[in-house]
Amino acid sequence: MDRSTLSSLHAEHCRALQLSCEAVLRAQGLDTLVLHSGTPQKRTSFDDQFWPLRPSPWFMHWLPLEEPGCHLIIRAGKLPLLLRPQEFDFWEAPHPPASDHFWSSFEVREGSRAALLAEARALSGGRTAFVGDDLAAAEALSLSAAANGAALMRALDVLRVSKSAYEELCLVEANRRAAVGHEELRALFAGGDLPELQLHLSFLRATSQDDSETPYKNIVALGAHAATLHHVSYEKRAQPALSLLVDAGASFAGYCSDITRTWVKGGGAGASAFGALVAQVEALQQRLCGEARVGREYESLHDHAHELIADALRAVGIARCSSAELIESGLTRAFFPHGLGHSLGLTCHDVGCALKAPRAENAWLRNTSTIADRQTFTIEPGVYFIDALLAPFRAGQHATAIDWALCDELTKFGGVRIEDDVVVGKSGLRNLTRELLPQGGGAPGLR
Ligand code: GLY
Ligand code: MN
Ligand code: MN
Repeated sequence: MDRSTLSSLHAEHCRALQLSCEAVLRAQGLDTLVLHSGTPQKRTSFDDQFWPLRPSPWFMHWLPLEEPGCHLIIRAGKLPLLLRPQEFDFWEAPHPPASDHFWSSFEVREGSRAALLAEARALSGGRTAFVGDDLAAAEALSLSAAANGAALMRALDVLRVSKSAYEELCLVEANRRAAVGHEELRALFAGGDLPELQLHLSFLRATSQDDSETPYKNIVALGAHAATLHHVSYEKRAQPALSLLVDAGASFAGYCSDITRTWVKGGGAGASAFGALVAQVEALQQRLCGEARVGREYESLHDHAHELIADALRAVGIARCSSAELIESGLTRAFFPHGLGHSLGLTCHDVGCALKAPRAENAWLRNTSTIADRQTFTIEPGVYFIDALLAPFRAGQHATAIDWALCDELTKFGGVRIEDDVVVGKSGLRNLTRELLPQGGGAPGLR
């Protein structure tokens, strides 16, 4: 990636963020905002081992520095001031930044923790708010009562919805990194039968990530395991399987990708029917991507996904009744229980796009926004064979609506999900994932 482009886009990002934050400060009656980077969390309260720090996303919105105990001070008309403690620790050291493109946008002060804390206290008089997840750090500045106020957090969350050109570039790089891992797993699955744990480790190796650096725990599900939507209890022994669902991403400068691909191999009626289902989901996922545009309610896209999934269930022969009956009975919700997608950015399930609750039947939908310019989100329809959700429909008035013998056969394949990351602009949609991985699923092929 071209460092000078990244650097100039980052500077532009910070200038715009400064102006937006100044408007938030005015609206909230504040003079100063203190953003705390965070404090490493204990792995267990019974030992003194810590997870690597995941800095607060409100801090990372400005800079990708994964160091604990930093304060970033935002004031009107002033360059953001970074107070960066430099203390020798012979037990642990933070990750160095992956790139040095961001320093020129800050006034940086380095020193002992005590000296910088005194400086932060001196700057925190008057109308100051604290944002961060370590409330002891707020207390150290006597800002407990001014920490993470709901109105302020909501205003800051909204600033994370529409991505700057810098953020888009980071999301492109996060997609590029993850794409390498997806290609690797597609080829490994085509070539043999590896256990899920080996596939997970291969993804980490191909993307040069440690497990704790991934934006979320890799979901690697062979066969029936794909019916557990977040399957992370990897099987360690090799078992022949005809399908593989991989939901895995990567990060760059704090920004996440979130990508799912579903592969099917082998002959036989079951693999052929599951292959037909994957092809249907691939087609409808692409159609939904084509229909996302500025001004549309994301929830209406989710509703449309249920209509398309109903049609797909009929096309494959899983359903015998009308699409309307599939939707009205709740059957499409048994096959597709999660939301169509969510905001994406500094967290995998990013903030600012779920400010109102979805309708009751869309309980798991995490994006209820009107799609705005430069909004970034996932589009991830799926169809799964989850016994507990389908069981209530096996008897009763909808019992004949489904070909249960075919369902039982397809249970061995778990399910299909296809997930891309998209940025929607006034001039159209950019699919960051398909630029790198044109195929969402199907036969894995051989390289
Ligand atoms: N990887 C989690 C999700 O797709 O929401
Ligand atoms: Mn997702
Ligand atoms: Mn995902």
